[in-house]
Amino acid sequence: MLTSELRQKYLDFFKEKGHSIIPSASLIPKEDPTVLFTTAGMQQLVPYFIGKSHPMGNRLTDVQKCIRTVDIDEVGDNRHLTFFEMLGNWSLGDYFKQEAITWSFEFLTDEKWLALDPKKLFVTVFAGDKDAPKDEESIGIWQAQFQMQGISAEIGKPGKDEPTDGKEGARIYSYGKKENWWGPIGETGPCGPNSEMFYDTGRKHDPDFGKVCHPNCDCGRFVEIWNDVFLVHEKKADGSFGPLKQKNVDTGMGLERTAAMLQGKDTVFEIETFAGIFDALATLSGIKYEPETPNAKSEVQKANKSLRIIADHLRAATFIIGDENGAVPSNVGQGYIVRRLVRRAIREGRRLGIDKAFTDKVALVVIGEFGYHYKELETNKDRVISELKKEEEKFGTTLEKGLKEFEKMMKDHVIDGKEAFILFSTYGFPLELTQELVGENGGNLDIAEFKKEFEKHQELSRTASAGMFKGGLADHSEETTRLHTATHLLHKALRQVLGDDVAQKGSNITAERLRFDFTYGEKMTPEQIKEVENLVNEAIKKDLPVRFEEMSVEQAKGVGAVGLFESKYGDKVKVYFVGEDKDAFSVEICGGPHVARTSELGSFKILKEESASAGIRRIKATLS
Ligand code: SER
Repeated sequence: MLTSELRQKYLDFFKEKGHSIIPSASLIPKEDPTVLFTTAGMQQLVPYFIGKSHPMGNRLTDVQKCIRTVDIDEVGDNRHLTFFEMLGNWSLGDYFKQEAITWSFEFLTDEKWLALDPKKLFVTVFAGDKDAPKDEESIGIWQAQFQMQGISAEIGKPGKDEPTDGKEGARIYSYGKKENWWGPIGETGPCGPNSEMFYDTGRKHDPDFGKVCHPNCDCGRFVEIWNDVFLVHEKKADGSFGPLKQKNVDTGMGLERTAAMLQGKDTVFEIETFAGIFDALATLSGIKYEPETPNAKSEVQKANKSLRIIADHLRAATFIIGDENGAVPSNVGQGYIVRRLVRRAIREGRRLGIDKAFTDKVALVVIGEFGYHYKELETNKDRVISELKKEEEKFGTTLEKGLKEFEKMMKDHVIDGKEAFILFSTYGFPLELTQELVGENGGNLDIAEFKKEFEKHQELSRTASAGMFKGGLADHSEETTRLHTATHLLHKALRQVLGDDVAQKGSNITAERLRFDFTYGEKMTPEQIKEVENLVNEAIKKDLPVRFEEMSVEQAKGVGAVGLFESKYGDKVKVYFVGEDKDAFSVEICGGPHVARTSELGSFKILKEESASAGIRRIKATLS
């Protein structure tokens, strides 16, 4: 089934169920200055969940264009996209769980609609906590649906019960807020428990991943395709939850992911709408996109990753520039995101050997593919092409020189915030590009120092700087500082639990999470993960002081500091101590910045432990 057919079927189905079709909102919501982009179908409807009456009625459906940048560094795997389309249906205080779930099941499995095999569907519900009870009602509705198809629908425990694709076996799983709660967008507003539908690709799961697989397992076997949210709560400014006056339903189905499942593909990049983009890139680079296979050679994997990043980023940039409220590359707000996307795509293009301007050519293919549905792309075609050409001309000329400069800087030390600023102001490297380059070389960029430098130079207006840091990943320097200190604690805890062979291979911090790559030959056991987490949390609870001292590399080695000993002999390095000198918990060479005391970190949680490449593990963790 083509994505165009899927779009149409969805709208037809919900029209039959009494819904009015509303247009997609702009990608750039003008009425809400607190968000940069439309990230979900429900965004344009927030006022109507809290009581305002909608001119089109209380049953609505649409196809919404969305941009999400939180997962931008995951782009290149099998399911993350920066730009994607979301199919949605809403009840504004009208129908509730019974209809929402029954219709989801009917649309997915009925012969007349998607005709997916119900045995391949697995669902999740909210497990309950202090804010809301376990969603027994949804469990009951799902069980009845499966049972009507002769499927028993047992309730499984994540990490204990393996789902089976036969008649029997675990089918419905419950999880906490992290997985089964949606919203609010921003700090306050409508939110609630959700129920998600996953499709079992049947791919044997990563044997490295742990014995028991379940819908939210990260091995990639299960792909989330649809989310039914029951918006009945409101998060308040003090963090508490109160009831909304009306019971709403907000569902969102990922168009690209569902199309991939319908087309029997393991990845969103293999659906038909990407084919033209990859053909164009093959003509430009001589490198063909190879369908995903688990044992592909590393050169193929690398080339595929670059091709995917280019395809995703230029598709997103085309939609943002070509939007009805279109933004053009700049150093502010949405414009900064477009700049990042385009410049990262150009760099990946160079890696594939494309040394001429190419972004406008790819954009033409994107417009050709999507212009029939998103008419604004055709209307704004000239703007898209001319802006991309301009941007590529600006960046193309400095990219190579900048990369040379970067290499020179990296040669004898990890580059600092000031140098990152030079790359930004002289060579046009978005901060995140430098951050990525430093990460690839095993280092960690001091973002706060860059920011200080940036502000000092005031090359751009105050508002420009505010916009940039709000939109870019370098926002919330307080959060990144806390996560940076947590990274040191994690590094130490890993060495305590796994041994001193653990060495840092890379680190990357955004406002939401830390990512830490380290050498270690095996997958960590759940017990080891728990132990590391506990050690970090104990260090936090002890409220240890954090301070630094400048010393020579020799002295740093003498005090047992870990870190990158890349400075030339005689150079001074900064050594950070967490804990009282003599029995400091962690001693590490680092540029900072860090918090003053560990109690500022709150509570530490490991989100994921996975393989980053041969012999290198990757941990993602967060603080709350
Ligand atoms: N708001 C929910 C989501 O984005 C469902 O539409 O997943």
